Amino acid sequence: MKITLKIWRQKNRNTPGEFKTYVMDNVNPDMSFLEMLDVLNEDLMSRGEEPVAFDHDCREGICGMCSLMINGVAHGPKNAITTCQLHMRSFKDGDTITVEPWRASAFPILKDLVVDRSAFDRIIQAGGYISVSTGSAPDANTIPVSKVAADRAMDAAACIGCGACVAACPNGSAMLFTAAKVTHLALLPQGQPERYQRVVNMVAQADFEGFGNCTNIGECAAVCPKEISLDTIAQLNRDLVMAALRGIEPNTPIVPATTR
Ligand code: SF4
Ligand code: FES
Repeated sequence: MKITLKIWRQKNRNTPGEFKTYVMDNVNPDMSFLEMLDVLNEDLMSRGEEPVAFDHDCREGICGMCSLMINGVAHGPKNAITTCQLHMRSFKDGDTITVEPWRASAFPILKDLVVDRSAFDRIIQAGGYISVSTGSAPDANTIPVSKVAADRAMDAAACIGCGACVAACPNGSAMLFTAAKVTHLALLPQGQPERYQRVVNMVAQADFEGFGNCTNIGECAAVCPKEISLDTIAQLNRDLVMAALRGIEPNTPIVPATTR
């Protein structure tokens, strides 16, 4: 396959970026998208040029690192997969493919296609945990969980923190990510002690990080590789109302965004 790539190149967060064009004449359709970028980088390095920086780790849809906007769609043209699970056979011979980093002010560009998603870590730090007594693990059967609650909690727990939802949202909102984490714990007995403080703290942290508000557009769920449902946002909003009725305010010091 012959593929023309228009790739965003940017030296660092303080310098302006631009699209650079690369023509690849011999792309194997069975390559993954990231393997295709590996081949491009080998070629660039053999010519003494700077390789394209892009994020990746597991390359099997688990870690959430591979964050690429491909032809304007987060994770590319196929539904419910990550960029690393996308193959070149999803494109046609002669195609031009535009590759950009996530675009969101809360995810500043570090280099080329790599963005800083540590804001997600701080949202988790603000409330995405439970408190348990130390000692040996309790017998699982001593904490009954209904099948319905367990299934919904596990569906929410599938979120891999990739940030596609933010990149796709016109508001740059992190609501689907935050709602997935809130819902996962809100539905389980282990998540009850901190339930309402958690939702208040995590939403406050998302606001602090500069993510936008949710206006129910739904682009987030459309691009989510793990098919996290908008129902999680409804769950988050219900818990926020319950927290407000209880008069609960954010109580964690906002973690300074030291990497900005
Ligand atoms: S909700 Fe979906 S798109 Fe957003 S971070 Fe989680 S897995 Fe990625
Ligand atoms: S590299 Fe881990 S999900 Fe794509």
